[in-house]
Amino acid sequence: MSKVSVVLGCFYGDEGKGRTTDYLAQTADMSIRATGGNNAGHTVTIDNVKYALHLVPSGILSNHTIAVIGNGVVIDPKVLIEEINMLKENGIKVDEYLKISDKAHLILPYHCMLDALLEDKRTNKIGTTKRGIGPCYCDKFERSGLRVEDLYKSNFKELLKEQIDKKNELFAANGYDKCNFKEIYKSYTEYAKVLKPYVCDTINLIHQALKDDKNVVCEGAQATLLDIDFGSYPYVTSSNPTIGGILTGTGLSHKDIGDVYGVIKAYSSRVGEGPYVTELTDETGDLIRELGHEYGTTTKRPRRCGWLDLVALNYSIKLNGITYINLNHLDTIGKLDKFKVCYAYEFEGQETYDFTTNEEFLRNSKPLYKEFEGNFGDISNCRTFDELPINAKKYINYIEEYTGCTVKLIGVGADRECMIIR
Ligand code: GDP
Ligand code: IMO
Ligand code: MG
Repeated sequence: MSKVSVVLGCFYGDEGKGRTTDYLAQTADMSIRATGGNNAGHTVTIDNVKYALHLVPSGILSNHTIAVIGNGVVIDPKVLIEEINMLKENGIKVDEYLKISDKAHLILPYHCMLDALLEDKRTNKIGTTKRGIGPCYCDKFERSGLRVEDLYKSNFKELLKEQIDKKNELFAANGYDKCNFKEIYKSYTEYAKVLKPYVCDTINLIHQALKDDKNVVCEGAQATLLDIDFGSYPYVTSSNPTIGGILTGTGLSHKDIGDVYGVIKAYSSRVGEGPYVTELTDETGDLIRELGHEYGTTTKRPRRCGWLDLVALNYSIKLNGITYINLNHLDTIGKLDKFKVCYAYEFEGQETYDFTTNEEFLRNSKPLYKEFEGNFGDISNCRTFDELPINAKKYINYIEEYTGCTVKLIGVGADRECMIIR
């Protein structure tokens, strides 16, 4: 039986999970998304063509890898169909390779409306993507969600009506516009027809692939510090982007997991609200944003930028059982003359190496930095560690010494080919 490779974000998202999964999926038979929805935006660049994926696993771009949307994902069918069409227009064999779990929950228009309304009413804004993710997961856990398989039930109309009536009561009580049942029913029955060929029991499909010794890779979405349990609550997403979510979002067991790749950038970023210890609110932060093109794939919002935080990274490694680090944007950090990395926090006069998501702690911790020399020159053609300039090697060696974890994959440019494997 083969083991599954897992790709997880270690920080606040957008570490380059999509490009890493695309890289690994070139030699994989199956790639799987387990959690989140179209709050994710995974950019993959192949021969200068940029693909922005929100729901379909990046492995689809290999054109020979089965791409599974697992049971833990929340699906906005309209967005998914748009993505399918975009991929087909680019010559990607979606009909052959896409599989959608019958157990995945559906995002409905009222989820997006609620997401916007709830955010509006919050005094402490989360800065959600307003894609209906939180309200959809709420319904899932409240057991009033609709799943992909419900689209094909003879009583789908009644199931949908019941949910819309309930939501409309709430909207009416608050003086908001109601949802139009007829319109939603019509569009969702259309979506159901389009998606039908891809829908199946993905749990057995995945386990059969392992039994057949196939090479399987799981693509994490969001990231550890956005995890509903382990992230900086309440400034988090509504799922578990950590290793547990990979199991519950696919039906894999802990015994099926092999290598766990923790993805980081050579610096850091966060989009949305919440504490961020190593954030740079000065011109260096702005410079990193421009050099790294740090604007959201999904919402186009400018990302907050800062230095890499090794205190947070060790927390991520510990929680997820990360076996290898994948360091992206080494080329970007190398454009600076000098750069820093956080090795400890100072909290209430004490130096600390232990990360915790307590808001007071995060808001009042001062990052302690070690400085490195930049100016790497153009490293986008380097394909081995040995070819890298000494300053780049020093940085990578320091990350490895600090974490005790091998930096196995190194991104030296956005394109698929711009990757060093050690
Ligand atoms: P994800 O959500 O974790 O998949 O990451 P995003 O796709 O949202 O953001 C990562 C961005 O960095 C994308 O625009 C990638 O094309 C880009 N990227 C990833 N790795 C590298 C790298 O090594 N160098 C450069 N220059 N860009 C990279
Ligand atoms: P990928 O997979 C970065 C953030 C939002 C917001 C918070 C809650 O591309 O790394 P939500 O809409 O999920 O309820 O928003 O989480 N967020 C992300 N930030 N990358 C993502 O995904 C994110 N998905 C959600 O900005 O702060
Ligand atoms: Mg992203």
